[in-house]
Amino acid sequence: MKSKESILTDNFGRYHNYLRISLTERCNLRCSYCMPLEGFQLSPSENLMSAEEIYEIAKIFVKFGVNKIRLTGGEPLVRKDFIKILNLLSTLNIELSLTTNAVSVDRYFNELKKAGVKTVNVSLDTLSSQRFHDITFRNYFDRVYKNIFKLIDNGFKTKINAVIMRGTNDDEIISFVNFTKNNPVTFRFIEFMPFDGNQWRREKTVSYKEIMDKLQSTYQKDQIIRIKDAPNDTSKNYKIKGYKGAFAIISTVTNPFCDQCNRIRLTANGKLKNCLFSQEETNLLKAFRNKEDLEQIIFRNISKKYAVRSGLSDPENFEDPREHKKNRSMIAIGG
Ligand code: 5AD
Ligand code: SF4
Repeated sequence: MKSKESILTDNFGRYHNYLRISLTERCNLRCSYCMPLEGFQLSPSENLMSAEEIYEIAKIFVKFGVNKIRLTGGEPLVRKDFIKILNLLSTLNIELSLTTNAVSVDRYFNELKKAGVKTVNVSLDTLSSQRFHDITFRNYFDRVYKNIFKLIDNGFKTKINAVIMRGTNDDEIISFVNFTKNNPVTFRFIEFMPFDGNQWRREKTVSYKEIMDKLQSTYQKDQIIRIKDAPNDTSKNYKIKGYKGAFAIISTVTNPFCDQCNRIRLTANGKLKNCLFSQEETNLLKAFRNKEDLEQIIFRNISKKYAVRSGLSDPENFEDPREHKKNRSMIAIGG
């Protein structure tokens, strides 16, 4: 048996204590940057992890040092046995959190609190209801918007993730920051990333630098305060002086933060991905069902992790759409 650190430590000394588990490939929205327009072939249900399988596999990771688990999707709350999964995982000694589109999160407040969930990340890319429909193909803006305030009122630490896309919502960056004036949320601007079927083009990504330039031309220099990032933070954190909330930039495309990476992912059909961009996956669910030695299998996967973005380290190969065809769509990875 490997010692505690070693099965989750890669060849570059990075220790992976943060597991993101996708509960489903389904979603009640259709965000164009995530869900392929032509539709998406769902995994057969017998290939998906059951609640008990999620729990048993998660337990192995926790045994080797994972102390943070985030539930993602698709949209995790569309899974019928979500509460069962939540309750099972809440018995583990971990920090449990959730990423949701917030369409129906208000129905789960009590269960989330009981399970000890303190932080909720909401995906919202616009403050305009018309635009929300253009991006997600659904009319749920009002529900999501109201639920953000309900999350705050219910004491959840709330972060809002906005994928910034040129020509779609890059004109709202200042409105997003202004939203943090009276609301204690962190608005996080994510550089638009390429995945299979999401029609990514280099020009559509708005870079960290461009976002900062825009802010610096709106706010005075001494108004923009750099906040210290937490260890392993993927975001660069800031706030405007006197504002209740904060904002942050996640620059996976122009400024990858791979040297600090502590994340691994488990897809809804039980495949371990050591990076968001990894094309190679390990079928943990199959191995679990065959009663194989998961520790060895996990270790082999982790030890193959590349230094930067699964080998797409130079901007040229990162920008080649063919490279991303070999990876999954975001809907099937889990944000
Ligand atoms: N680029 C950047 N972020 C993305 N997400 C989904 N697709 C992309 C993409 N192409 C993020 C969204 C959402 C989370 C589930 O994943 O911010 O909040
Ligand atoms: Fe659903 Fe989130 Fe993907 Fe949008 S980004 S389609 S809300 S999983």
